[in-house]
Amino acid sequence: MTTKNKPWGGRFKESTERLVEEFTASIHYDRRLYRHDIEGSIAHCRMLARQGIISADDEKAIVQGLADIRADIEAGTFIFSVEDEDIHMAIERSLIGRIGDVGGKLHTGRSRNDQVCLDIRLYLRDEVRSVIDLVRCLKSSFLTMAKDEMGVIMPGYTHMQKAQPVLLSHHLLAYWEMFDRDEQRLEECYERVNVMPLGAAALAGTTIPLDREYVAELLQFPRITKNSMDTVADRDFIAEFIFIAGLLMMHMSRFCEELVLWSTEEFGFVEISDSYTTGSSIMPQKKNPDVAELIRGKTGRVYGNLVSILTVLKALPLTYNRDLQEDKESLFDTVDTLVGCLSALSGMTENLTFKREKMLYEATGGFSTATDIAEYLVMKGVPFRDAHEIVGHLVAYCIENEKKLESLSIEEFKGFYEGFSKDVFDRVTVERSVNGRNIPGGTSQEMVMRRIREIE
Ligand code: ARG
Repeated sequence: MTTKNKPWGGRFKESTERLVEEFTASIHYDRRLYRHDIEGSIAHCRMLARQGIISADDEKAIVQGLADIRADIEAGTFIFSVEDEDIHMAIERSLIGRIGDVGGKLHTGRSRNDQVCLDIRLYLRDEVRSVIDLVRCLKSSFLTMAKDEMGVIMPGYTHMQKAQPVLLSHHLLAYWEMFDRDEQRLEECYERVNVMPLGAAALAGTTIPLDREYVAELLQFPRITKNSMDTVADRDFIAEFIFIAGLLMMHMSRFCEELVLWSTEEFGFVEISDSYTTGSSIMPQKKNPDVAELIRGKTGRVYGNLVSILTVLKALPLTYNRDLQEDKESLFDTVDTLVGCLSALSGMTENLTFKREKMLYEATGGFSTATDIAEYLVMKGVPFRDAHEIVGHLVAYCIENEKKLESLSIEEFKGFYEGFSKDVFDRVTVERSVNGRNIPGGTSQEMVMRRIREIE
């Protein structure tokens, strides 16, 4: 296309290389912002008219033209062309084509530099809200599971070694806490996204007497940005969102990893329903936890997007530089990945069957109540380090003689420490062990129920 037809073509004599047009274009992905671009333009136009910068007739023509463009895009009849470079120029070109020179008044007091910031903020504001809804949904699935599985005992692990028995509900609610923090972070991110940038123009503001507050009001932004240079250079809110998305993905990946392990024959703690698993093309017996694996794998993409945006921003001098156009694909990909994973995980968690007996059976092995016996001795006045040593000897004795702590006689206990009495038998069962940890934040049934009541 000759530069004569470009909105910025005035000072150019030669036309743009086709390769350069293609290389610099972002229209193939930023067209996704069309709705927000039009919404922002309508607000800008109304403000221009209210300020007496354009006439009421111009306003009417422009608003109508923009609405028609939106309808065409939604009907699929709008022709996107690489020559338009980006969604902002595509819409402006089409507007001028439809309503004539009047269309050229829309860009008064505005630059694509502040326009693109507005579009992304409008877009992300919507997306953050829907992500928050999905996180709430996920939290409520975890809460439901925790209630349904109340009383089920399983081994708690450290170093992937059996450590102490816990309630399955306590384990599940650990994820509720993670997702709750994610939700709080999203709410805070929303506040920083929800700021109106228009009026910064290219970088320094404009001589045209715009009413920024009025535009903010029309678009329901509670605040406007405070420094025009920061406004067009700032993509912190994108990096912040992707970071939060990364944490959310990481939290989901940890649960998914547990599902992968727990659904093995070796663990046998859970069955993922057929509708959330897939088979093998060669091994007829297989039922694979692909959904969990994909969520785990997609976590890597989101981390990649975070590194990508941070690297684009690193050492970038003020203010707008074309590098910033590289912000959008990481953002869009993050939103799509996150939304997909949140929905898939919510669905999958509603279709899990926990193998309660197997969990209980595994919780009773591995000397998982050894700490309880040590704590029992502590309450009898034995210093903790000595108690640790005594119980260590007991465990070694059990291993040598192929016994369990539960099956030792009182004489055997006394052989290691004279002060043991029969009440020690109360401490060796996993039920007592779990319910004994009756401290705020602990795994006893009473405390877990208390937390559930607090949540509700
Ligand atoms: N497509 C550009 C972007 O996404 C819009 C702003 C372009 N501004 C400019 N002066 N070239 O960042």
